[in-house]
This record gives sequence, structure tokens and C-alpha cells, in this order.
Amino acid sequence: MTSGNPDYRDSGLRFPEGFLFGSATASYQIEGAAAEDGRLPSIWDTFCRTPGKVRGGDNGDVADDHYHRFDQDLDLLKDLGLDTYRFSIAWPRVQPTGSGEANQAGLDFYSRLVDGMLERGITPIATLYHWDLPQPLEDEGGWPARHTAERFAEYAAIVGRHLGDRIGTWTTLNEPWCSAFLGYGAGVHAPGRTDPLAALRAAHHLNLAHGLGVQALRSVVPRDAQYSVTLNFAVLRGDGPDGADAARQIDAVANRIFTGPMLTGGYPADLLADTASVTDWSFVQDGDLVDIAQPLDVLGVNYYNTALVSLWDGVGEKQMADNHGEAVASPYPGADRVQFLPQPGPYTAMGWNIAPDGLEQLLLSLREQFPDQPLMITENGAAFDDVLEDGRVADADRIDYLRRHFTAAHRAMRQGVDLRGYQVWSLLDNFEWAYGYSKRFGIVHVDYETLERTPKDSALWYSQLATSHMIPE
Ligand code: FCB
Repeated sequence: MTSGNPDYRDSGLRFPEGFLFGSATASYQIEGAAAEDGRLPSIWDTFCRTPGKVRGGDNGDVADDHYHRFDQDLDLLKDLGLDTYRFSIAWPRVQPTGSGEANQAGLDFYSRLVDGMLERGITPIATLYHWDLPQPLEDEGGWPARHTAERFAEYAAIVGRHLGDRIGTWTTLNEPWCSAFLGYGAGVHAPGRTDPLAALRAAHHLNLAHGLGVQALRSVVPRDAQYSVTLNFAVLRGDGPDGADAARQIDAVANRIFTGPMLTGGYPADLLADTASVTDWSFVQDGDLVDIAQPLDVLGVNYYNTALVSLWDGVGEKQMADNHGEAVASPYPGADRVQFLPQPGPYTAMGWNIAPDGLEQLLLSLREQFPDQPLMITENGAAFDDVLEDGRVADADRIDYLRRHFTAAHRAMRQGVDLRGYQVWSLLDNFEWAYGYSKRFGIVHVDYETLERTPKDSALWYSQLATSHMIPE
């Protein structure tokens, strides 16, 4: 750790030329227009209509209506002076049933969106899959089924052929851990299954989809492009004598289950041993590990908070303060004895602990594990209970959160981490999955009645940072 303000509020920090300041969103969270121009339901449309799954019965039918207001949203990015926009493409818009013919109207939307970015001097970072699996593919088995990975590669090729002349950075998947383990293990995300074997199979087929997807893109994209994936890393602290083993177990089933095959060519031996009572991993076929291990130009890192773990002694109640909502089933197959302990505050409106030192720790640990791998923060940000008053949102808490996390990133860079950019989550308040519209992560406020956008104080602060490269005092 370098010296500086113990609270990560250093002053006078400057980011290098070429560092990419941007902001991120995802299709289902902002687009709306759920049944327009040929889009068919995804697993999230279905999940939202399943009683009790999403807070307040909210859904993405209208969301921020970005589908019709994207020009205004791109103007916001430009006015803020941001370099990059990390957005996602909705598979059910581009290939509504998940296989077969492409839907030209869906492709045309993303074509207009990308052209709009380029006209405004904003560099697109496109994510192919931010959780909106076409429902027909779930009906045929979803991510636990191998053919979903093959369908994904076909979809990637369609998008690559149509947008490949204009997109410089491609991200295959956003947070496959959430897709596999919250979607098929804990059941708190779509499609809401609670089956540890299905979750592990899903993780492997997401890995495979990533590898086949990169290969499919490379074969059709007509220009030099960068390839990446975005992972959400569990940043672990161990408590008590068995804390280190508890942290190792979660590191295996949350982090190394993806970085192992993607970056080092295989699944870690301890993961296979920990999960032996669930599966023998015979769903991994010859050649899969070669397909998955595609060289990546940049690894996307999402970071929000840390986790404190220990081994449960079997006496008393096992604690699961791990912030996955009302999960009744564990999202950690093979790690049944690990418990998640409450952590000291302060907290965001999600109840997530604010820990900028965790971001520094994560970046340093990734550099140690993968020394030559350039990194990009593809999500970091915070939900707070914002108040819009007289046309202004004075979100000092979000500014402080961002200031401290940008300081952490800067400290990591000073220690040699090759960090290429930082995409703040999120540009707009939006549909926060199982929490519906109750949590606001935007640097721009959205009034869900009028859909009016109002940049919060944090947006203005971030604009100063992005344009000067200095963390504002
Ligand atoms: C991440 C998701 C993103 C958003 C943030 C708060 O897990 O990738 O869509 O919901 O959390």
C-alpha cells in the first residue's frame, strides 16, 4: 500500500493521457421498448412477471425509454466530456428467438446508437451479453445446456458482421458469475433456478460461450479490435483461524472458476476437489479448454465492495451477510461451510460496505496473478437515496465514493498496475434487477414519471475529472 490519506481522499492526483473515462449501462436496465421492432422476451422479461421475484413487480418494459431517447443520452455523455460509453446489446432484439435469422430492425437500432457515439467523439465499448438471454434458449435448457454457448457464438458473429467496422472494444460477457450462480444457484436472478449442478454447468458453458464468441468475432470483424470480458471479483478477507481457507474456497468458485480457464487454460484443482460431491465435471469436453483460453487485450473488472468470510463451526446459525438479497439457496456450490460475516460500514443504499482499499487490493492481486494482462474498470459506483430538489441532486455521498475509488485506482497504477480506463456505473438511474427501480446508481437522475434526465452533482464532478484528468478538490 502506498502512503496517502488513510481514507483514500488524496489530493493532486492526475491520470495519464489516454486513460479512458467513461460510463456504463446495460440494455435491459435502460432501453424499454421491450416489445418493439421485433424484440421478443428474454429471461428477465419472464422473471419480472413471476410474482415475488422483482421488488414491487417492476419490469423493464419502459425503463429509461433509452430506445427512443438515445440521442439525448449520447448528448449527455458528450456534454460531460466522457471518452467512452460501455453499453450492451440485447440478444433478443438482434436475434429474437436466440437462433436463426437476425432481426434487421434490432441491428439498425445499435447501428444508429454506435454512429451516434462516433459522431460525438465517444468510443463505444460493446458488451454482447448483459444477462438478457432469449427466453426460447432458456426453454431449451439455458446456460446449463451446451448448445447455448454455440448459439452465443452465432449471435456474436451476426453482431460482429454488422457493427465490426465501428466498434473498437468488444466484451463478450458481463459478470458470468451472476448469470451462473445468482441465476441458476441462488435463484435471485433470472431464470430463478436453485440447482448447484445447473449453476456449475452454466459457469462452464458461459466460459465456452466467451471463448467461442471471441473466435467468432475475430473471424468476421474487419478491423483491429480489442477483445475483453468483464468479471465481478469477490474481494475476500478471512476471519478467524480458518478464514484463509474460507477465502480460498470462495475465490475458487467465484473468481478462479472464470480466470482459470479464460486466462490460464484450466479449472483450478481445488475447485474440482471442492465441488466433487456436486459433479465430476464430465460436461467439460475435449478441446473446450483450448477454445476458452483466448488471449484478451483487456480484462474488465467490476468492483463494488468486499466480503468477510470464515468457516462455520456447525453450531448456531450460519451467517450469510453476502448481499444477495433474499437468497434461500447458496450461490457457492461446494463451499457449504463458508459463512459471510457482517462488515463495518459505511454502507451504500444497497447495504454494501464502502471499501476503496478493496479495489486497490483487487487490482494489485490481478497484476500479481496475471502480470501482462491490461485491466479496465468496467463498473464501479454506488446507489444512494438521492433527492431531487429544485432541479438538483446534491449527491455528496456518491462524489465521495467515486473520489475514494478513483484514488484507490490511482494508487494501484502508481504501483505498476496497467489500468487503461474506468467506466462509472451507471450513466442513468435504471432498473436494478431484483431491486427494480428502488435503487439509484446513476450519475444522472431519471424521473420515472416524466423520464426527464437531470445530471446529479456527481456527474458534474465526474465531468471535471474526465476533462482535466485530475481528481477535483
Ligand atoms: C452489477 C451489474 C450491473 C448493475 C450493478 C449495480 O452486478 O453488472 O448491471 O446492476 O451491479
